[in-house]
Amino acid sequence: MTSPLRDLLDHRLIVVTGKGGTGKTAVSCLLAEAARRAGKRVLIAETSATESIVTRFESAPKPVGYAGRELRPGLFAVHVDPHEALADYVRLQTGLGVVTDRILHSETFQQLLEAAPGWRELIVLGKVWHLEQKQDARGRPLYDLIVVDAPATGHGLTFLDVPRVVQQAVRAGPLARHASWVEAMVHDRERTLLLPVTLPEELPVLETCELIARARGEVDIAVDRVVVNRMPSRLASRALACLDRLPPSLSPESLPPVPAMRAMLEHESRREAIAVAWRRSVSARCGLPVVDLPSLPRGFEPDGDWAAFADVILRPAVWPGEPGAAAATATPGGADASGVDAA
Ligand SMILES: Nc1ncnc2c1ncn2[C@@H]1O[C@H](COP(=O)(O)OP(=O)(O)O)[C@@H](O)[C@H]1O
Ligand SMILES: [Mg+2]
Repeated sequence: MTSPLRDLLDHRLIVVTGKGGTGKTAVSCLLAEAARRAGKRVLIAETSATESIVTRFESAPKPVGYAGRELRPGLFAVHVDPHEALADYVRLQTGLGVVTDRILHSETFQQLLEAAPGWRELIVLGKVWHLEQKQDARGRPLYDLIVVDAPATGHGLTFLDVPRVVQQAVRAGPLARHASWVEAMVHDRERTLLLPVTLPEELPVLETCELIARARGEVDIAVDRVVVNRMPSRLASRALACLDRLPPSLSPESLPPVPAMRAMLEHESRREAIAVAWRRSVSARCGLPVVDLPSLPRGFEPDGDWAAFADVILRPAVWPGEPGAAAATATPGGADASGVDAA
């Protein structure tokens, strides 16, 4: 047995990361929705080139842009576009308005930027830091929790490592100061958590293991669990066991023939077993417990019911193989359709 982990909602900043398509945006939305339902004021900071958060909340989505807006009571979203963040930063540093825009849009400056690796990451993280520091009129943090929907892995960690690299290269001046604030935020284990998302499949699992090794090594950011998205329910393997208990003489007219049912269920239960094995593998290789997310039948359509599943992300992380370590295939009503992890 291990001691329980801190509640996700006790953090100030959660950086959701993983390979493209694993469900980072989905997890960011679930987490923000769960936080909102728990009475927190939460902000999702989207860092990809195109906005997709808003499309999960609104059927006729209008961009939230760099200014951001409230999508549901208590849930805000902002699109941290690096060019706008840079203009914002330079404007703050120089106190120049229109001139800043003219310089930033000049061809020379654009060429300089393209040749300067890491500026995007630093500026985007700097904006996140700025948002984390924001206070309301009574001096309390404006947001209780900020969820960063990070770029796909690789970029995801480069993104977090840039402040350290910049600080090594530039030792004084505003840029160094700025990088040191951002770096302190990344390393603060009380405030900040990296939340990796994987699928229970070979390539995402291997990439997640690499990501976590780097997160613990060079980046030095807290990571305490892995989200395993699209974990299949164990329905097929349990149905197969039921099939075995049917009397051989039974052949109900309305059902498909038993051998056909067996073939279908065996196929599906092999798929389930593979997912269970990769889930166990990512946990064992990384030495981390897992939180399972089921595949939602209607996905993340804005008018679907995904928000009803939000609290699944807050479930205690489990060690596969331990008693009670069942797949999270809960229904919003609370009934748990999972079987015991037998793999
Ligand atoms: N648990 C889930 N159940 C159903 N659909 C999902 C689930 N997780 C992700 N999806 C869908 O899979 C696709 C990729 O997920 P997304 O969150 O956009 O991945 P990422 O942000 O990592 O690229 C999207 O269409 C999303 O709606
Ligand atoms: Mg995404």
